[in-house]
Amino acid sequence: MRSVTRRYLRGGQPVNALDDVSLEIPQGRFVAVMGRSGSGKTTFLQCAAGLDRPTSGTVRIGNTDLGSLSEAALTRLRRDRIGFVFQSLNLVPSLTVRENVTLPLLLGGERPDSPQAVERAMRVLESVGLADRADDSPLHLSGGQQQRVAIARALVTDPAVIFADEPTGALDPSTANDVFTLLRRAVDDTGHTVVMVTHDPVAASWADEAVFLAKGRIVTNMVRPQTADVVQVMAELGGC
Ligand SMILES: Nc1ncnc2c1ncn2[C@@H]1O[C@H](COP(=O)(O)OP(=O)(O)OP(=O)(O)O)[C@@H](O)[C@H]1O
Ligand SMILES: [Mg+2]
Repeated sequence: MRSVTRRYLRGGQPVNALDDVSLEIPQGRFVAVMGRSGSGKTTFLQCAAGLDRPTSGTVRIGNTDLGSLSEAALTRLRRDRIGFVFQSLNLVPSLTVRENVTLPLLLGGERPDSPQAVERAMRVLESVGLADRADDSPLHLSGGQQQRVAIARALVTDPAVIFADEPTGALDPSTANDVFTLLRRAVDDTGHTVVMVTHDPVAASWADEAVFLAKGRIVTNMVRPQTADVVQVMAELGGC
């Protein structure tokens, strides 16, 4: 991102939800984006992932300038090169776990019941420890298991970047740790890039780097963040 500003109108007044943000994230890095409520984290993620267009500045993924793409080309890029994990999981209850995981392949024009699609879905379900639940409805899974299905779905297209917004917000600490382990493995074993928004200092300690936002600006970067140091910075920023 270079000099990215995202301006909203609030009650007729312009407000910079992101204010001149520049950040380069190398391939294969796990970055935690932190900051108190309203600091601009979700806006940052949406601009970085091509879900929203900045008011000014440039966003590149690899060599592609997202601002130069038509809506259709941006949709294709999101589908082919980006994985998403959100707090509200958007799993489809009427489909099986495996069918949910194959959805991004279907959007890519692949038949979801083709042997290749089924094999890929089973491989990622295996990697999140849920191959034995492939034929279940997501409704029959626990919150943590559903979050792992959402991660499997994000991984199935082998995307360059996985964007996650509060992926463990609704989980207990031990189940959340399973999710962080999976994201960490996606970085260490397969070279994915992970950008994760979180309020949680323990979550940030799984990342290679923590970026702190306040009022839409990056105020601190921390390499190899330790939980205690993150807690301290958050306190200095007035809590999260
Ligand atoms: N669509 C919108 N229209 C107007 N203002 C918006 C819009 N989306 C976000 N904002 C404003 O931009 C600022 C940043 O919002 P954002 O959702 O990025 O914060 P956040 O850090 O993700 O907060 P939280 O931790 O509560 O999710 C806030 O002041 C918010 O009110
Ligand atoms: Mg948010």
